[in-house]
Amino acid sequence: MTDVPATDVQATAETSTDSLTVRDNRTGQSYDLAITDNTIKAADLGQIRLGDEGPGLATYDPGFVNTASCRSAVTYIDGEKGILEYRGYPIEQLAEKSNFLEVAYLLIHGTLPSKAEYDSWVHEITYHTFVHENVKSFMEGFRYDAHPMGMLMASVGALSTFYPDARNIHDAENRHLQMVRMIAKMPTLGAWSFRHAQGKPFVYPDNDLSYTANFLSMLFKMSEQKFEADERLVKALDVLFILHADHEQNASTNAVRSVGSTQVDPYSAVAAGVGALFGPLHGGANEAVLRMLRRIGSKSEIPAFIEGVKNGNEKLMGFGHRVYKNYDPRATIIKKACDDVFEVNPLLEIAQELEKIALEDEYFVKRKLYPNVDFYSGLIYEAFQFPPEMFTVLFAIGRTPGWLAQWLELVQDKEQKIARPKQIYTGDRTLDFVPASERWA
Ligand code: ACO
Repeated sequence: MTDVPATDVQATAETSTDSLTVRDNRTGQSYDLAITDNTIKAADLGQIRLGDEGPGLATYDPGFVNTASCRSAVTYIDGEKGILEYRGYPIEQLAEKSNFLEVAYLLIHGTLPSKAEYDSWVHEITYHTFVHENVKSFMEGFRYDAHPMGMLMASVGALSTFYPDARNIHDAENRHLQMVRMIAKMPTLGAWSFRHAQGKPFVYPDNDLSYTANFLSMLFKMSEQKFEADERLVKALDVLFILHADHEQNASTNAVRSVGSTQVDPYSAVAAGVGALFGPLHGGANEAVLRMLRRIGSKSEIPAFIEGVKNGNEKLMGFGHRVYKNYDPRATIIKKACDDVFEVNPLLEIAQELEKIALEDEYFVKRKLYPNVDFYSGLIYEAFQFPPEMFTVLFAIGRTPGWLAQWLELVQDKEQKIARPKQIYTGDRTLDFVPASERWA
């Protein structure tokens, strides 16, 4: 192969240490691309082309494994070290010392609230928990066995028709109102999805109760005058909401941002996020973990199950993560909570043994597969009497402030554009259409 002589560098950046020099071996031409924040701009590659005609060079990145789609100041993750911070605060401290509505404020506003700000925020959320009566009729129309996540996705999307003013996304006050509405109403919609599946009447919000206690009331209240939730349950669920509140550019947040980039209203964007979260590779994994543990059934069946995973027959649900190549810090907190909640639980014992065997097995070690947030969360939810179909609904309620904080960042970010990836076309070209009468003759 003959060596192609290098030609002049085409400068897209001052030739400096903060640049990347790439040489196109097809033409021998070199290019300097600016490096900012340890990234190059994919658009800068567009100038690299074979001739004057034809498309410029692009990157091919299914699943965005190495592509940053935005700048964000909401959540920081170091996947190698197992660090998670919201607005700079470690998740461990927030889980121990804060509460969900304060964390929601932090994610959306960027700072912790003063006393007056906190009181006003909690008041606003509390007084937006009711939904229009037609939302109730709409939800009653689902089939008796409708999955609560499907109901949640549809009903959040339907809110866009109840609040047409939400389309005015360029008005800060209006955005604030819609975010308050959504955080306030998600527990109402989630609880009603649950009650529908149980064939029980819908329970209206009780604004005397805290955010989480009110959610439990809407889920479990029957004929009593006032529902009094177990305080330990209220606290545990509040912590679980905090742990799920944001996780930077995960699949559902990417869905919210992608749909939000069209400048649609936030209810439509969040409905897309709920849909993405529903999938078993994302938030739906908590439901899948519980079903997997039940199927394994006993500790003695674990080796055979692990062999099946290694042979590629199935996945060990609740293990692995795109970003964490270490223990997911949320799983650490939930695992500890499991120890506090259960004395003896056969499924927990299977989960712990499964984790132990997997973490010592070369297949999982080599691929850096550790338990993620969903490995233990289903066990806690089950202990609180939630059926598996509800697990991802709980995740969605917790994630709502994160979706909204990311959506808010998106709509204020001047660098953002409508999300529209490229493709590598692999299909036919310029075929001559043959009418059906001739093809079928
Ligand atoms: N069980 C067995 N093998 C696995 C698992 C698993 N849970 N996860 C990844 N692997 C293997 C893959 O087969 C692949 O092996 P290979 O290199 O031999 O082909 C390797 O590990 C790398 O995995 P990828 O699929 O390339 O990793 P990716 O980042 O694309 O996927 C994901 C991440 C989707 C989370 C994956 O680990 C998975 O499917 N896990 C199970 C589902 C799950 O628990 N999802 C919840 C994630 S947390 C959340 O969303 C809230």
